[in-house]
Amino acid sequence: MYEGYKKYIPFQPQPIEGRTWPEKVITEAPVWCSVDLRDGNQALIDPMNMQEKLEYFHTLVDIGVKEIEIGFPSASDTDYEICRELIEGGHIPDDVTIQVLVQAREHLIRKTFEAIKGAKNVILHFYNSTSTLQRKVVFGMDMDGITKIATDAADLIYEMSASAIADGMNLRYEYSPESFMGTEMDYAAEICQAVIEHIHATPEKKIILNLPTTVENCMPNQFADMLEYFCRTLPSRDCAIISLHPHNDRGCGVATTEMGLLAGAERVEATLFGNGERTGNVDMVTLAMNMYTQGVDPKLDFSDINAIKDMYERCTKMPVGDRQPYAGKLVFTAFSGSHQDAINKGVHYMKSSNSPYWEIPYLPIDPADVGREYEPIIRINSQSGKGGTAYVMEHYFGYDLPKAMHPEFGAVVQKETDRVGKEISPDDIMELFKREYLEQEGPYSLAAHSFKEMLNSEGRLVVRFKGTINYLDETEDVEGIGNGPIDAFFNAIKGFDMAKFTFLDYKSHAISNGSDSIGVTYILLEDQITNERYWGVGTSSNIYLAPLMAIISSINRAFADRATMDMDAIIAAKEAAEAAAKEAAEAAEKEEAKEE
Ligand code: KIV
Ligand code: ZN
Repeated sequence: MYEGYKKYIPFQPQPIEGRTWPEKVITEAPVWCSVDLRDGNQALIDPMNMQEKLEYFHTLVDIGVKEIEIGFPSASDTDYEICRELIEGGHIPDDVTIQVLVQAREHLIRKTFEAIKGAKNVILHFYNSTSTLQRKVVFGMDMDGITKIATDAADLIYEMSASAIADGMNLRYEYSPESFMGTEMDYAAEICQAVIEHIHATPEKKIILNLPTTVENCMPNQFADMLEYFCRTLPSRDCAIISLHPHNDRGCGVATTEMGLLAGAERVEATLFGNGERTGNVDMVTLAMNMYTQGVDPKLDFSDINAIKDMYERCTKMPVGDRQPYAGKLVFTAFSGSHQDAINKGVHYMKSSNSPYWEIPYLPIDPADVGREYEPIIRINSQSGKGGTAYVMEHYFGYDLPKAMHPEFGAVVQKETDRVGKEISPDDIMELFKREYLEQEGPYSLAAHSFKEMLNSEGRLVVRFKGTINYLDETEDVEGIGNGPIDAFFNAIKGFDMAKFTFLDYKSHAISNGSDSIGVTYILLEDQITNERYWGVGTSSNIYLAPLMAIISSINRAFADRATMDMDAIIAAKEAAEAAAKEAAEAAEKEEAKEE
């Protein structure tokens, strides 16, 4: 039996009355702080070197992140050097604040002050662990002992700040009761209040209280209850900016952050693509783009997500998953035929309605908003429907196939995907289209053609077609007049085998190709012998010629099909049916005559 679950202690929800967070919505972006270069970096198999950290830092600045935790300079020589390089190398724009992390321990705090000398804007982030479990297992201390660690650190920091501030540094403070999510909320509020007092925070000079989900241990709504309770219980709430620092152990980091924002948080610490300890920190890209797709300006720029992803993969040596929201290789790809149909309809609806809003099913975001393209949205495999094929033809190649033609060409593509047993590319689809409609081997082809517009004896404009038709090795000159090129052509071939077709449907449009444009015509004919229907397609820069090419394409397809049929049997059956019909008609006529 699988009974390991019995050793886990269930989370005890924080009792709260009259919670208000479920009624709220997110209407503005929080203050973003990136912890990629600290929490993210410390979780890498191969931590970033100086060059990589600098490149990463500059990308974060370009994205628009204004607070960046650059490391743990008192704990690592590399972090110390990077901190110095950022400051001395002039890498930090005036509107960006660097943040440095330090444990609430005297010698580390002193070293941190050395590391930040000369910086313009700094957040000094100190922390100690406060949870019930850590107090018991790691520190063996009671609440007062843990509080003293925090307040001693606050006193020292406050004292050491004086000279840095006098030197012109804009120095702010951040305190994290690490493992906040496992701390009794009354105690969390108590220790944070003590820190507020020892660091002399005021409503004008607020401290950032960062409340980490160091290890995610409950449902996001339970976390929101805790947070709302904490904010209500903290006596000097107005002296603090409430910050979140969610990890993702239960896979709910994004939801925890979003509900935490509803419950009173104003700031979020996150990483690109969710890198960080274990299952990672919460993903800044998903959070920001979730806001974006709700009509809220996230104040971060992910308009070139591929470039950011490339930088991330290069510097961290970690891959971004193919299904990663907003950034994964496959997130703008629909495999299912019904999804493809709906996307296709959505694209048409957007065009025809001129809607200023994004209203395309299955695509929660316009791929162009993250620098991706519509083109890779649809890929064709054996699960794709006819709509997907039509979408590819239109969006990759400009062929807007008549709706009635979708099943026919869809079946051609389906046969091919079944044959190859894998997905096929848009170019493969175009090849099939050419082979099926545009480039048949015969038996018919048009060797020469000319059209003339003229007035007939009744003064109406008509078209005269003169041409040479090849049929296998035979050549025939033909001529006909009609009220358009199609009519003229059919009149020219009257009496030929190829005239035994009924014209059923027609569509034409232009395909522009840079400054040039060609006409494409789709024509549906019915073979009068087999009663089968065939679409044909013709393209030409001559608007009269494209329809004729389409007719020949359709007829050639019919002849190719006839070659696979037992034509003798079909003709015999047809003749028998005609004879029977004739006999029945004659009998009816005789009957009628008798009655008269
Ligand atoms: O996850 C965590 O608790 C941390 C703290 C140091 C803020 O990274
Ligand atoms: Zn963390």
